[in-house]
Amino acid sequence: MRYLNVAQPPPSPRSVEQLREAAASCQACDLWENATQTVFGDGTEHARMMLIGEQPGDQEDLQGKPFVGPAGRLLEKALEEAGIDRRRVYVTNAVKHFRWTRRGKRRLHEKPNAGQVRACRPWLEAEITVVQPRIMVLLGATAAQSVMGPAFRVSKQRGEVLASPFGVPVVATVHPSSILRATDDEAREVAMSSLVADLKVAANRS
Ligand code: URA
Repeated sequence: MRYLNVAQPPPSPRSVEQLREAAASCQACDLWENATQTVFGDGTEHARMMLIGEQPGDQEDLQGKPFVGPAGRLLEKALEEAGIDRRRVYVTNAVKHFRWTRRGKRRLHEKPNAGQVRACRPWLEAEITVVQPRIMVLLGATAAQSVMGPAFRVSKQRGEVLASPFGVPVVATVHPSSILRATDDEAREVAMSSLVADLKVAANRS
């Protein structure tokens, strides 16, 4: 039988480092089994802006840091275009282990399920408690639904400043990897401009 490590965030977390250490042994859902490591949030400890993605990808799983692969490079470009310095924000994910399936030699991303998102939520809550951002940017449906609830639709409410259950306002937008999947240059440019516009809305509130 699998041993389920009950690593939990401390009730009054003191620092991101303390949380990162505690989360390293988290086995609250099954994703730890096939992942290389827990990929915890990273960035400025008391950043005004927190960006929340879905889950680490292949590169993030190997390097142990969020948004360092292709989606991360696109996010960095969008932040730059929006006039936001990546070094001054805090970046994390709703789920902190990589969920994947094997296709030949490749590890293909699989969307985390509702139970996996729920199991990881205490870590996200603890990060918000420590960082105390002024605004959170929810990148894609998984992050948006983790924070705002399962009925939330990014397509209906993107780019608006909304109240969240955490008491921190949020702006929801698309996930950068949806832009990587755009079928042609024109669609990519339009999607990128919309992401940048949403990031600017968030920057104005940070
Ligand atoms: N996609 C995410 O949602 N998060 C990452 O860290 C990388 C890719």
